[in-house]
Amino acid sequence: MRYGFFDTAADEYVIDRPDVPVSWTNYLGTKNLCTVLSHHGGGYSYYKSSEYGRITRFRQNGVPLDRPGHYVYLRDDADGDYWSVSWQPVGKPLDDPANPAVYTTRHGLGYTRFEAQYKGIDASQTVFIPLDDDVELWDVRLTNTTDEVRELTVAGYVEFSFHTISIDNQNLQMSLYASGSSYEDGIIEYDFYYEPWTFHYFTSSETPSSYDSLRDNFVGPYRTETNPVAIERGEGTNQSATTQNHCGALQHKVTLQPGETKRLVYVLGYGSRDGVGRDIQKKYADVVSAPAEGRTPAVDAEFQRLRDHWRAKQDKLRIRTPHEGMNTMINAWTLLQAETCVQWSRFASFVEVGGRNGLGYRDTAQDVMSVIHSNPVKTRQRIVELLRAQVEAGYGLHLFDPKAFDPDAEKLPDVPSPTIVPTKDPKDLIHGLEDTCSDDHLWLVPSVVEYVKETGDHGFLDLEIPFAEGTAATVYEHLRRALQFSAEQVGPNGVALGLRADWNDCLNLGGGETSLVTFLHAWAIRAFLEVAEPLAAAGRPGAGDDVARWTTELDRIRGVADSELWDGDWWIRGYTRDGVKIGSAQNDEGKIFLEHQAWPVIAGITSQERGERSMDSVRELLGSEYGNHLNWPAFTKVDDTVGFVTRVYPGIKENAAIFSHPNAWPIIAEALLGRGDEAVAFYDAILPYHQNDNIEVRGAEPYAYVQFLYGRDHEWFGKAQNPWLTGTAGWMYTAVTKYVLGVRLTLDGLVVDPSVPKDWDGFEVRREWRDAVYEIEVRNPDHVSHGVASVTVDGVEHPVGEPVPAAPAGSTVSVVVTLG
Ligand code: GLC
Repeated sequence: MRYGFFDTAADEYVIDRPDVPVSWTNYLGTKNLCTVLSHHGGGYSYYKSSEYGRITRFRQNGVPLDRPGHYVYLRDDADGDYWSVSWQPVGKPLDDPANPAVYTTRHGLGYTRFEAQYKGIDASQTVFIPLDDDVELWDVRLTNTTDEVRELTVAGYVEFSFHTISIDNQNLQMSLYASGSSYEDGIIEYDFYYEPWTFHYFTSSETPSSYDSLRDNFVGPYRTETNPVAIERGEGTNQSATTQNHCGALQHKVTLQPGETKRLVYVLGYGSRDGVGRDIQKKYADVVSAPAEGRTPAVDAEFQRLRDHWRAKQDKLRIRTPHEGMNTMINAWTLLQAETCVQWSRFASFVEVGGRNGLGYRDTAQDVMSVIHSNPVKTRQRIVELLRAQVEAGYGLHLFDPKAFDPDAEKLPDVPSPTIVPTKDPKDLIHGLEDTCSDDHLWLVPSVVEYVKETGDHGFLDLEIPFAEGTAATVYEHLRRALQFSAEQVGPNGVALGLRADWNDCLNLGGGETSLVTFLHAWAIRAFLEVAEPLAAAGRPGAGDDVARWTTELDRIRGVADSELWDGDWWIRGYTRDGVKIGSAQNDEGKIFLEHQAWPVIAGITSQERGERSMDSVRELLGSEYGNHLNWPAFTKVDDTVGFVTRVYPGIKENAAIFSHPNAWPIIAEALLGRGDEAVAFYDAILPYHQNDNIEVRGAEPYAYVQFLYGRDHEWFGKAQNPWLTGTAGWMYTAVTKYVLGVRLTLDGLVVDPSVPKDWDGFEVRREWRDAVYEIEVRNPDHVSHGVASVTVDGVEHPVGEPVPAAPAGSTVSVVVTLG
């Protein structure tokens, strides 16, 4: 069953059946303001922090589904009938032949457009957050398609939050009595008595005929957003007050001649009426577009800037392959999802609804790696934040608030308050070994190296950045400490200690050992050597010793992997603290795990034969039509020496679900092994695009990866959960662009080393790198998967295996690669 389709030319996903079984969301905002918005208008906004900066309210786990939202109501004043531009919250019947109602939602990059056709009125509401103003705009257009004059009431509506999610959920002592609203000159201002520096406002391009700012006046007792009394009446109460629950509701009377179109802009903003609200209201008041007279309303100009912003990111790397799903996802949706994770991290969605703050060390350290080319500024900021949250001993703080370690973080005014969470001394945020994950710090090393490769900013390695304790060291030293921590945390079998957890949050081995981290350590060492070797060659003091030290460690790991960790057909997952093997054919449950199988190949520490064998085992034992399961067989017996995974329902999350994120790694391994068909088969199995017409099983949106899909041990096999905020997006982007298509960077060159399905005739990649453009064409006349027969650069033959050197800024380089 399908509810929509990809409009690839427009970079939009179009939902033409709004009664989707679950909310399909989009993320708006590129800077301070974020809105998570569903295809039916439900959602919420926050300013900077989803925990402490809520602007509009959301009722998680509520009925009706996912409310409230950012709604525009329309009322026909002739008969009092009303509807909303997004299908919900009014929810007109979709199958009433007497009054057909057609609703369409278009999710785009940074915007969502709702469209409704009902009773001869075509309405649209385009919601977006401009690049630089801390506002959300709703560009509303109404067209009368009948030949009668129509009198309508149009109302924009939001419900304000108590600004801190715990206060919305708990109503502490003062909550109901500590915020107020007022109305002046068409602007509703919402203020907080206990946070006197925080204001929100709601306004519009035209003076309204009436308003409400007290939510219960607008909705009315024993009603919901489906049938607000103020909409039924066609008029607000024009009352505001201090205390209780607040909203922004502005009603406008609109007369439409036959064929006439009118436009209104609603503005939800952060800040006070006098501080910013009046200027913003003025800025967006003009809605008349008259290009011939050189008149472009600010709302149009800002929308265009936003579109250009995303196009520029897309243009950094565009692919054209015979695989349409891959093209659509990589050029738009997977890029958007990966950027969203870097920008907003993990906690604000419709599943986890924003009650945590800050950055997960491991997740952020991985996310940044994929979008350096499209967002170098944010990537650099995140990397610096991660480095500041690394302790002198080398490990990372598992979940941290970057503001706590940022010397330039804005300080809140010192107002005594009963409700604000006290700021902590950064020293109290430094956790000890018992809360340390064995992998967090390791992801950072390759990310920093990729950052240097992308930007050419070698000086970044010499930048002095403090550890969490406050002492400063170069970035290079930070990386060394990360490697050193893992070199010290090794158990009796020579394998990394499991500590609190590794990538798998639910494998809590403590003093047991994890092969995954041993493999990741090898991968991080290799990345480090890529920068250390040229520094050693250039005579940097200490770098030669580093190269020797870490080459030796890499050899040791290779030996341990060879002798201890191979189980015959796959790699074991590790040992419990009692020395019992995990993830071995000897086990009854959890015989094989997914997440570590690819890493010996990626880290380059195993043979082709073992690499292929382990991938074949993944396919045979973990594979399915929806992707690879995380482990098999599922755990059914509690064993705390293995971890929380044994307490999770079979087929869910870390216990034998199809966990999306580690599904990317076998794609990379297969590509490195030169098996392009197998790589793309792994990609295809879990590609949401392919599930577009299978929504009765999938449930979730087909344009976003989810954290996991129910596994075969569960009756809901294939049902997709927790969309958007998953490291899958970044890793899939990396797997396809750098490994399947094979366009990777060295410190000073570009490599094209694809592994593609044999039936591909070729493909093209347009890659911007350090201000030059590389037009790459790959030809596959012999229909092979892997292996480069020849390369030309600007028509001149180039040695196979040698990177194409970085070209001067401003140039366009044509690279033709022939496989064979
Ligand atoms: C969640 C966490 C991530 C972890 C994964 C597997 O997605 O955010 O850090 O690696 O679960 O446990």
